[in-house]
Amino acid sequence: MEIFIDSADVAELRQTSATGLVDGVTTNPSLIAKSGRKMRDAIAEICSIIDGPVSAEAVATDVEGMLAEGRFLAAIASNVVVKLPLTEAGLMACRTLSGEGVPVNVTLCFSAVQALLAAKAGATFISPFIGRLDDAGLDGMELIREIRAVYDNYGFTTRILAASVRTTNHVKDAAIAGADCATIPAKVFQALYKHVLTDQGLEAFLKDWRSTGQSIL
Ligand code: G3P
Repeated sequence: MEIFIDSADVAELRQTSATGLVDGVTTNPSLIAKSGRKMRDAIAEICSIIDGPVSAEAVATDVEGMLAEGRFLAAIASNVVVKLPLTEAGLMACRTLSGEGVPVNVTLCFSAVQALLAAKAGATFISPFIGRLDDAGLDGMELIREIRAVYDNYGFTTRILAASVRTTNHVKDAAIAGADCATIPAKVFQALYKHVLTDQGLEAFLKDWRSTGQSIL
């Protein structure tokens, strides 16, 4: 499963991408607002840090506006993916941009039938929001399983990008459910390395090693 970082914080993105384990980035209007940067500048810098897909979200709500913003965003760098909301206008704009060769990430997906429509509209990525479904008392991971089944039934190549990920268990369960990618906050990425038994085991090994008085080199 590919790992994307859900952030517009360039310092955080430089740090996480230095591991060589980050495959892409997603942003949204809230993350751009939090960064305090101009959209164009932030996306250009992020695209210079990360080779993989970088999602930049349009904010227009009509088809023409989405097309204009989408084309502007796509021109910033060759790895920009235009992010559009799962609305009728969003899917119409998705069809047109995808036809022009611009990859589209359809966001704010909360049902398998929405994901079916996004695939039919030519989306490169579909972003089901796991955490927000869980917050609403529903089962976010069930949506990933349903979309996987629907896409596999019909051979859709739209990639399932698990979004609104809050925990390491979300990452594990999304991988088991067959999500193609997960976009995660940097703090969840850092937590993926962690296990209490790894820390305890390493401490014990190093203690025993010190008792030998040896050095390897
Ligand atoms: O970028 C979309 C998504 O990952 C947002 O997550 O935590 O705001 O629900 P969250």
